[in-house]
Amino acid sequence: MLDIKSLSIGFSSYSFGLKKHTVLAIRSLDLSVSKKEVLAVVGQSGAGKSLLAHALLGILPRNASLSGDLTFKGKKLTPKDMALLRGREIALIPQSMTYLNPLLKVGVQIARAAELSGVSPKASWKATLEALRRYRLEEKIARRFPFQLSGGMARRILTATATIGKADLILADEPTNGLDQATAGETLGHLRGLADAGKAVLLITHDIEAALSIADRVTVFCGGVTVEEARASDFNGSGKLRHPYSRALWDALPGRGFVKSLPARSPISSSGGCPFIFFCEKSTPLCEGSLPGIKNLNQGCVRCHHA
Ligand SMILES: Nc1ncnc2c1ncn2[C@@H]1O[C@H](COP(=O)(O)OP(=O)(O)OP(=O)(O)O)[C@@H](O)[C@H]1O
Ligand SMILES: [Mg+2]
Repeated sequence: MLDIKSLSIGFSSYSFGLKKHTVLAIRSLDLSVSKKEVLAVVGQSGAGKSLLAHALLGILPRNASLSGDLTFKGKKLTPKDMALLRGREIALIPQSMTYLNPLLKVGVQIARAAELSGVSPKASWKATLEALRRYRLEEKIARRFPFQLSGGMARRILTATATIGKADLILADEPTNGLDQATAGETLGHLRGLADAGKAVLLITHDIEAALSIADRVTVFCGGVTVEEARASDFNGSGKLRHPYSRALWDALPGRGFVKSLPARSPISSSGGCPFIFFCEKSTPLCEGSLPGIKNLNQGCVRCHHA
């Protein structure tokens, strides 16, 4: 359904002396997701996860530049296509609550999203009430403005808004942030259900355990680079993970007793090499100079000179 080849996203900035240069936030990213599949994109804060979703919708900030090929249902995505498909065939559960219109009651916002994505105006209100029920929100919530919602309610409204229509690709950016475990489980279960029914889901999250509960495959982001793509079942502590960064992420989980600590945010390479170089026990000068190519390994792939 979605195929991304060599995606790079850079931001222009000015250094001392007003010299303009570009900082790459995503580098040479390849990724694909098929219908009936949940692909989890995991990584620390600043890894480039939200940028990926925004690139697919054509809503990157103005100072961003993009290169690479994005293909949706076999057709190359142009900026014009992105604007047309947004909300109709590709829907986003945004990370930020600011995507809710503060001046519109939330029921109207959900119903509008349904209509944009192909639900008839007659059926959209009934669908809105069903969506609210699915996320255990009472009917009266439909008449509230966003500022009258709790954080968890707003998160569920964003999920209801993105999943109510007929979009075939759902980009879920941190859909469980701020939810208690039971409600988060329901949201994840619904996303899995949508994939089982034929949609493709890109689940963006820093919560590996949540990702593993529904994902088929996992892509690990580090400093704007996909360092590994693995089957969800490879995250089981039996040494199947291929990249030192994926292993470090796994070892840093609370359930693993915080075996290792990680830097506070995703490491970034300024030299164009591997972003994990300064934290990796195996790093050599080769890792600093060049980004390793993608190697297929044990039914997954990895970008590491030493794998
Ligand atoms: N408008 C911008 N100008 C310059 N840099 C930006 C801009 N927007 C994002 N970035 C940078 O791009 C990188 C990736 O940001 P992104 O929001 O995709 O991270 P993320 O992986 O979603 O993190 P989080 O888990 O905290 O949501 C960060 O280093 C961020 O500072
Ligand atoms: Mg983000």
